[in-house]
Formats: sequence, structure tokens, C-alpha cells
Amino acid sequence: MSIFSPDSLKALIDEYVPDLVAIRRDLHEHPELAFEEVRTSGIVAQRLHALGLEVQTGIAKTGVVGLLRGGVAGPGAKTIAIRADMDALPIAELNEVEYRSRVEGKMHACGHDGHTAILLTVAALLSKRRSELAGNVKFLFQPAEESIGGAKPMVEQGAVQGVDAVIGLHLISDIPSGRVAVRAGAICASADDYVLTVTGRGGHAASPHEAVDPIVIGAQIIAALQTLISRSTSPFSPSVITIGEMKAGTTFNIIPETAVMRGTVRTFSSEHRTYLMRRIGEVASGIASTLGGSCEIEWQIGGCPPCSNDPAVTALVRRAVVATVGEEMLDEDESVVSAGSDDMAEFLQAVPGCYFMVGSGNEAKGTHYQHHHPRFDLDEDALPIGVEALVRAAVDYLEQG
Ligand code: NI
Repeated sequence: MSIFSPDSLKALIDEYVPDLVAIRRDLHEHPELAFEEVRTSGIVAQRLHALGLEVQTGIAKTGVVGLLRGGVAGPGAKTIAIRADMDALPIAELNEVEYRSRVEGKMHACGHDGHTAILLTVAALLSKRRSELAGNVKFLFQPAEESIGGAKPMVEQGAVQGVDAVIGLHLISDIPSGRVAVRAGAICASADDYVLTVTGRGGHAASPHEAVDPIVIGAQIIAALQTLISRSTSPFSPSVITIGEMKAGTTFNIIPETAVMRGTVRTFSSEHRTYLMRRIGEVASGIASTLGGSCEIEWQIGGCPPCSNDPAVTALVRRAVVATVGEEMLDEDESVVSAGSDDMAEFLQAVPGCYFMVGSGNEAKGTHYQHHHPRFDLDEDALPIGVEALVRAAVDYLEQG
């Protein structure tokens, strides 16, 4: 990288660390839930303005996009986007830290405060070297990663138009602080939730032949759905179908009219996702009609595709990570893959890119609790690692032309 020599970048980031930590702690004290990130996005927009970026606000309600045009970006110059999510969770914080959440029942329990602080610092660093930048950098500050999905409306509203590649990171407490995980291909699962409503014909429990029992139909549907995993999908392409809720009936001697089941399906490829989403409905309604009833399936809004990393962009991010932490601190085996979902997937479906994981777990500092735990916290030493890896990846991408 010509803009920053390896040592000058680390020294420069050191100068930014106090501000980086201060932003993170301020956001931590003021958590905001999905699509309510008004204060957070206000701070983001104001900081990006101050850096001289072209700023768009109100994208997907509370999203913010900042564009940094490189000083030596000739015709045909590339644009790389970097994404951070901003939302918190409805959890009451149990940590006794000085920067503890000041909002009752809400906390940053997934590290998105850290992601936002990291990306603002990356924007500051790259702005400082704007005149030497060989292309453009777009900063995507996304609302509502948790549960509702802010990435999809950002893509629909043109946030990645003209973007050639997208990168982003998640701080992860499962990975020790200092380590970074990068892997090509599937990195997070898809997640789609559904409601199956089986309709039979209610009646007396002693005369089942005069009724159509939706509970028996439901039981057969549950068993049959598992064969979609065990018999219809490759053992080398893992996926999950779960029914997590079943509601039917009021008492022992009545056959109810309906049975309602709710479940989720997780996959690691778009083909598998499409296949299972089609087959779950077909199997459920086929069994129901065979047994004299019917079954309707309703997919819940906010479903998320799998996160799939592009090999070329991932190779570039890997080089940036190795330059940041050294090869011995890199994880890239399949333990890196998560069955959780993340709507970074929406950006990765629109543009080739790479989502990678920066370790933030440190038992000595008490930052080893799982994500979404009321004692979740970040090892703040992981923040500059994230900054350095993103800056290196962005600069390298633009310099390779
Ligand atoms: Ni998260």
C-alpha cells in the first residue's frame, strides 16, 4: 500500500484510538433499537459532513450513506463500500462499567456500537489521505440489523449503486481478541421464518371419523419436513428446519378446527434456500390435503439470504488482515462459519464482497459473554484492529484498479 506505509498506518491509528473508544462508549451509553437510531445516525451524519463527505440521510428510515471521492480517481475508478450496523437490542444491561447503557431495557449487546465507531474512524483516516486515494469509498451505516432488516431497503433505495465491492466486519466474542477470521464462500446462514396453519374439521374427540384432526396432520407434517433435510438435501450442504412452536386445541375431548405451527429454516446457499422454501410449503399442503385437510404457509417478512463471500475480494481482505495481525492470528477453517444470520447478506447478494469476523473475546476483561447476553461487552483493543484491516483492504482494492 502506497498511501500508508505499514508503520505509519499503525502510528496514525494510535492517534485516533482515544476518539474511537470515546465514540464507542458514547453510543454504548445511548443504545437505540431497529429503525429508531435517530441520535446515532445524527452523530454519524454530522461526523461525515465534518469530514467533507457527500452525505445522504434517511435511507431506509435511519440509514446514512457517506461518499468519499478519491483525489486521484480517474475515469473508470472503482468504488468500494464499507458497511456497519448501528442498532441495539431490547436487553437490560448487567455490566457495571462507567459507559453502561443509560436507557432502561436497551443495550448494545452485539457490538454494533463498536462497528459504527470503527467505520467512523475509517472514514476519518481515509479522508485524511483523500488526495492520494485512487478511487471512491462509500460508507454504509445501516439501521436495523437485528430482526427486522435494514440492509434490504438500503439496497432497494440505491445505496450500492455504482459500487464494485462491499466489505464489512463483525466483532465476535467467541473469537479471542487479537484474532481475525476470514473465509471465502458461505460464512453465515440464511434465516426465514414461517407460519403453517393446518385447517381440518373440528368435532368430538370420541368421533374422529366425523372430523378432520389438524393435530394428527400437523404431527405428520413435522415428521415429513425433517425428511427434506435427511433425504432431499446433500449431506455436504448443511441446512436446518425447525418447528419451534405448535398451538392447537383447548381441551382433551375436542378435535380443534386448526393447528398453527411456527418454524425457521436455515441454509448456506441461495439455491438451497429457494429449494427448501418451495418444498416446505409443498410437503405441508400435500400431506394436509392427503389427510382431508388443508395447510397454508405464510413467510414472515425480514427473511435473510446466506452471507456468501466472493473469493477474489476475500483474498484481498485476507492479505489486509495478515498485514494487520500476522498470519498466526488468522482463522480460516470451517469453525469460522456461523449458523446465525446477518443481513450483510443483502449487500453481498447485490455486490461481490467479504464479511469477516474480528475477535473481541477476552475472559480477563470479562468480554467473553455471548452476543445478546446482558453482560456482553467488547475488548476495545479489538477496535483498532478492525480499523486497520478495513483501511488496508479499501486502499489495496482501489490501488489494484
Ligand atoms: Ni450483530
